Amino acid sequence: MARVGIMLVALGAVVALLQVAAALPRLEHPPKADGSLAILVVGDWGRRGQFNQTLVAQQMGVVGEKMDIDFVISTGDNIYDDGIANTSDPLFKESFSNIYTAKGLQKPWYLVLGNHDYTGNALAQLDPAIRNVDSRYTVIAKSFIVNSGIADFFLVDTTPFILHYWNNTKFDWRGVAPRDTYITNLLKNLEYALTQSKAPWKIVVGHHPISSGCGHGNNTELEELLLPVIKAHGADMYVNGHDHCLQRITSRDSPLQFLTSGGGSKAWAGKFKATPDKVEFLYDGQGFMSMRLSKTEAHLAFFDVAGSVLHCWGLTKTAAAAGH
Ligand SMILES: *[C@@H]1O[C@H](CO)[C@@H](O)[C@H](O)[C@H]1NC(C)=O
Ligand SMILES: *[C@@H]1O[C@H](CO)[C@@H](O)[C@H](O)[C@H]1NC(C)=O
Ligand SMILES: *[C@@H]1O[C@H](CO)[C@@H](O)[C@H](O)[C@H]1NC(C)=O
Ligand SMILES: *[C@@H]1O[C@H](CO)[C@@H](O)[C@H](O)[C@H]1NC(C)=O
Repeated sequence: MARVGIMLVALGAVVALLQVAAALPRLEHPPKADGSLAILVVGDWGRRGQFNQTLVAQQMGVVGEKMDIDFVISTGDNIYDDGIANTSDPLFKESFSNIYTAKGLQKPWYLVLGNHDYTGNALAQLDPAIRNVDSRYTVIAKSFIVNSGIADFFLVDTTPFILHYWNNTKFDWRGVAPRDTYITNLLKNLEYALTQSKAPWKIVVGHHPISSGCGHGNNTELEELLLPVIKAHGADMYVNGHDHCLQRITSRDSPLQFLTSGGGSKAWAGKFKATPDKVEFLYDGQGFMSMRLSKTEAHLAFFDVAGSVLHCWGLTKTAAAAGH
């Protein structure tokens, strides 16, 4: 009996180790000295400067410098049409380094992959060698966490959720297939990370929308699988791209805000979908989003291609919720 007991203890230790090994990779990005954080969010951008990518980039530079941003988040579809072939693919410089040249944007960029980054070599943007080309470009894994003291950002790889991509041979599923196991593990790790998070603001970032009134609209796979996890664990915002618009939607049955920042280049699709959630603001054009966070307040804004504020709003947290 004693031997069985020891074996069980040993087995428990192995399982614990495996769980640690499977935890989502994380990196620390400390806030400013006063505890606040300023960031920009852009998505769906890499088109060699075309479709007003350059104009959006210039205005991000102006706003980024004014706000003294700490970092930039990309909601994916970083490089059109099929990501990059390898870290020396000239498309990377043409669509990233040579475009986001402003002083205000010389900060780390934390990125998720979109479906367009997946239809070539989906591993190239994750290769650490990319930072020899441009030191800002930070994709430490397909899903990872950025801890910033007052806010935790949970970057989630949403492309594998979308069922109809799985019949398209252009997608690079290395390290992903089989789908069910990948998604189960990802959600388990995300749930664990959300429950462990002590940050007042919990912000989940993915490429595909959960709720959207723009051209692509809702994704049922994400509604069914991802939404319950992020609602149950008190996420404040779900931030996405994929729809080439700027959009703020509030959930009708939770404090969650669905924010689309997918206006980094080609836009003006002129297509709209119904969503049962409350659409507070929708702009079917180019631009980006800014976010300034303190322990108890969040100030967000959407900017257009000329740098004009289209819509801004605030969120507050009670001192108790902020962990005082
Ligand atoms: C680029 O932005 C300008 C406004 O500054 C707009 O008139 C034009 O249609 C936009 N071009 C594209 C391709 O979206
Ligand atoms: C990287 O990709 C580019 C673009 O497809 C190609 O021209 C080049 O030969 C590739 N380089 C290496 C080292 O594979
Ligand atoms: C994928 O293709 C298979 C075989 O053609 C088909 O049975 C299945 O319904 C397709 N799945 C989706 C999600 O389109
Ligand atoms: C959009 O999502 C909501 C849940 O947030 C769901 O009830 C609704 O049926 C979806 N609408 C469409 C058009 O898929």
